[in-house]
Amino acid sequence: MKQFRIKPLDEILATAEKKALHRSLGAFQLTMLGIGAIIGTGIFVLTAEAAQKAGPGMMVSFLIAGFVCAVTALCYAEMASMIPVSGSAYTYTYGVLGERVAWVVGWALILEYAIAASTVSVGWSGYVAGILRNLHSLLPFLPNINLPAAWINGPLDGGIINVPALLISLLVTCLLVIGTRESARVNAVLVSIKILALVVFIFLALPVMQIENFHPFAPNGWVGSSGVAPAAASIFFAYVGFDAVSTAAEETKNPNRNIPIGLIGSLAICTVFYILVAAGAIGSVGAQPLMDAHGVGLEPGSTQLAAACKGVEQLVCSKEPLAFVLRTMGHAHVGNLIGLAAGLALPSVILMMLFGQTRIFFSMARDGLLPPVFTRIHPKYKTPHIITIATGIFASFFAALFPVGKLADISNSGTLFAFLVVSAGVLILRKTDPDRKRHFRAPMVWVMAPLAIAGCAFLFTQLSGYTITLFFSWAAIGLVVYWSYGNRHSHLAISQRK
Ligand code: ALA
Repeated sequence: MKQFRIKPLDEILATAEKKALHRSLGAFQLTMLGIGAIIGTGIFVLTAEAAQKAGPGMMVSFLIAGFVCAVTALCYAEMASMIPVSGSAYTYTYGVLGERVAWVVGWALILEYAIAASTVSVGWSGYVAGILRNLHSLLPFLPNINLPAAWINGPLDGGIINVPALLISLLVTCLLVIGTRESARVNAVLVSIKILALVVFIFLALPVMQIENFHPFAPNGWVGSSGVAPAAASIFFAYVGFDAVSTAAEETKNPNRNIPIGLIGSLAICTVFYILVAAGAIGSVGAQPLMDAHGVGLEPGSTQLAAACKGVEQLVCSKEPLAFVLRTMGHAHVGNLIGLAAGLALPSVILMMLFGQTRIFFSMARDGLLPPVFTRIHPKYKTPHIITIATGIFASFFAALFPVGKLADISNSGTLFAFLVVSAGVLILRKTDPDRKRHFRAPMVWVMAPLAIAGCAFLFTQLSGYTITLFFSWAAIGLVVYWSYGNRHSHLAISQRK
């Protein structure tokens, strides 16, 4: 035990009681928070990237990624109902596999949450640039505004700084400092707008679907550097966020009932929307990838694809694909409104991602693995303001400088790792702590959890070599940080030394 520094679950629950956050969220609010975190840049922006990798086969990519998330959500729900405290996968791992693995998971969660916030900020920037380009059609008394490419793209995308992405993540950080309650209310309005936008899209696109647009179905094949499976690994980002519900466990009323409802409910609703939206986009305007001279699909986010897209009006080239589809169908005005809806609603996703990140950092600091200043609660707003501001600055930095697809894949690498560890943890706890009360038990756990583990591992291997290398480098940096600080300051280590 000592060697692995496993934190007893009862102690985890007791620590949470000592520095408790205010419990204010119910099942409905949690489901709304879940949907708020899930529907975002994935469906609104990365659909184009998935189409470039998989073609119409991206329908299957959505199904694969949704299936992996569904089986993982069952594991998450069981964990969250047993350990309803802040910190999500990090906290669970601490209680099952010990401090060192928990630290690596917490470190990987920075990729999942903070980098996801950066990703969505960049996706938002694409839609905002589109809204401004079509401003006159939305508000006839204003002219169209073309923002200079240098200020809406990071350096890797041929620009200098993505100013809109930078500004939105800083703005959302301020909202979070003011407090969860207010933020959750704003979130509920934005979620409604987002759902309305997708419903309108589905109603306009599905009736004009043409079966020929689904042929060839998988022009880049199924596995490899491009194809249906790599597209699933990227589009997985569209589902990320359901686990953010579990990070709000400490602020939830009756968490043992409400957390599983929030997790599984929000995921199920989003999956249905995604499949319908993908079918509508493919069936109405087509989703064939652009190929190089040898008939190989060009890599999304590459300069070659950017060059091939010059002057080409295709789904795979659009930075605002859903608006593009509607404009192409002749619904220019509705397309612009969908763009506006995305512009208004994507900040709710940034909010949930930053929220999740701050609560994970909060838990790590409360365990002594990060400096205690991070646990400080604002006297008026009752939020962990210092860690919120630090997280906001970190996310804004990446949002300002990096392209959306690369950020999404990096975020996915951290998420898949965390999901895998949580799913393994559920099985371990069924063996090591079978009598602990589980308010939610994952059905057929010995089938579901292994499927979740295998699914996450498979999708991880489908990420680009560049992303995988970056993930392991990040983990190595994390271990250096742990040995220089956390290992000595860990409250558990200190109490065990006494
Ligand atoms: N699932 C969230 C999105 O697609 C992170 O933006």
